[in-house]
Amino acid sequence: MASASVTRSTTKLGFTTLEDETTVEELPLRGALPSWLSGSLLRTGPAKFEVGERDLRHWFDGLAMLHRFTIGRGRVSYGNRFLETRSYRAARETGRIAYGEFATDPCRSLFKRVQTLFDASKTISDNANVNVMRLGERHVAMTETPLPVQFDARTLATAGVAPYRVPGELTTAHPHLDRASGGMINYAAKLGPRSSYRFYALAPDSSRPRVLASIPVREPAYMHSFGLTESWLVLAEFPLVVNPLALALSGRPYIENYRWKPERGTRFTLIDRKTGRAGATFTAEPCFAFHHVNAFERDGEVLVDMCAYPDAGIVEDLYLERLRAGKPVHGATLTRFRLDPGEGSVVRSALAGEDLELPRIAYGSHNERPYRYVWGNGTGAGGWLERIAKVDTESGHTLSWSEPGCHPGEPVFVAEPGGEDEDAGVLLSVVLDAGAGRSFLLVLDATELTELARAEVPHHIPFSFHGQFARS
Ligand SMILES: [Fe+2]
Repeated sequence: MASASVTRSTTKLGFTTLEDETTVEELPLRGALPSWLSGSLLRTGPAKFEVGERDLRHWFDGLAMLHRFTIGRGRVSYGNRFLETRSYRAARETGRIAYGEFATDPCRSLFKRVQTLFDASKTISDNANVNVMRLGERHVAMTETPLPVQFDARTLATAGVAPYRVPGELTTAHPHLDRASGGMINYAAKLGPRSSYRFYALAPDSSRPRVLASIPVREPAYMHSFGLTESWLVLAEFPLVVNPLALALSGRPYIENYRWKPERGTRFTLIDRKTGRAGATFTAEPCFAFHHVNAFERDGEVLVDMCAYPDAGIVEDLYLERLRAGKPVHGATLTRFRLDPGEGSVVRSALAGEDLELPRIAYGSHNERPYRYVWGNGTGAGGWLERIAKVDTESGHTLSWSEPGCHPGEPVFVAEPGGEDEDAGVLLSVVLDAGAGRSFLLVLDATELTELARAEVPHHIPFSFHGQFARS
């Protein structure tokens, strides 16, 4: 295992700006790709961490870059390009941070502050560095502001803000598939004197979201994702909450307005997908999570799985200064909450012994439904992501892949067409090989976590968040 001192020097590259935009027709390839694997892994993530003289402060603040790995006929091509957002253009053209990011405020004069106080749209960032999705024929990059950005999946050229309106001021970059329409379901927070949590649906080629549910709330919780079963929208309110007025008036960066109030516990609300009515509520011990993994109904209970932390300290862990200094981040526990509407009870249990983040499942076949396998990343001795793990949620058995000096990112599961088993397919993960100073696309057999192939990129790729595989 790598020592902490080795890891300190190996993680820093992953938080270092990548300026170059490149296209490589054929990456050097080791191993053999499955013949059925054809399509593009599209990813977004932070890639530029300084603007003019200023450093962005948090991993979530970095300016978004798109990456494309196109796989077909046994070959891999690669391209990367900055997302041409208004945040990025302002940074490039003026050398100044013009829009508020997750934990970095823009440069604004007192006059500008007063001017923008009454028109939040002037300060909201469209730096879509968290996730991508395919919505009908559109490809969209997303962050947690209501400004999704459309792009061309082949050229990675930015097409502008996507033509649909999010019914709120905050949203998530983790929409769920709406199986009925082929579109998406997502969450939004409507902020104002009367704030509410909202869920909305958007058909594949529509620009008009339909609000499915609206639940009043005084202090909304920070929400990075949500759960979905066949009958229920699952709202999990962690006790990291914000006073909407403070968000508008404090002058502090976005996330620094949220307060940890553990006495509230973690509140679950089940919302009927058909009627939009809030049903049973449950209160569990306080915890925090970015990522729901899956949720489903079984024997009258609703099971909600997520990567949970004891508190919101992980948000602090991810400030760049700390990460670059090699300070370890807390690991999340793959946790199951069993909600029993009959009893009104909630029972919590750990599904694995080792930590897990950036979870993926066999989404197309098993989201909303009973499932068995979760893939994700785990930390190593150096306190950063060093493993790809596969957890069997029924037995707790865990397999893992790791290599010295290597830091793998989110493993995206791609199902083998016609495969009968839940875990038949491959995992695609972008791995930083810190010793070589480069990244590579790793292709693992999703069942055994054995390596099938790797394709080497000529430069490093900063640590990123999420991506999706678009079949061709
Ligand atoms: Fe996420």
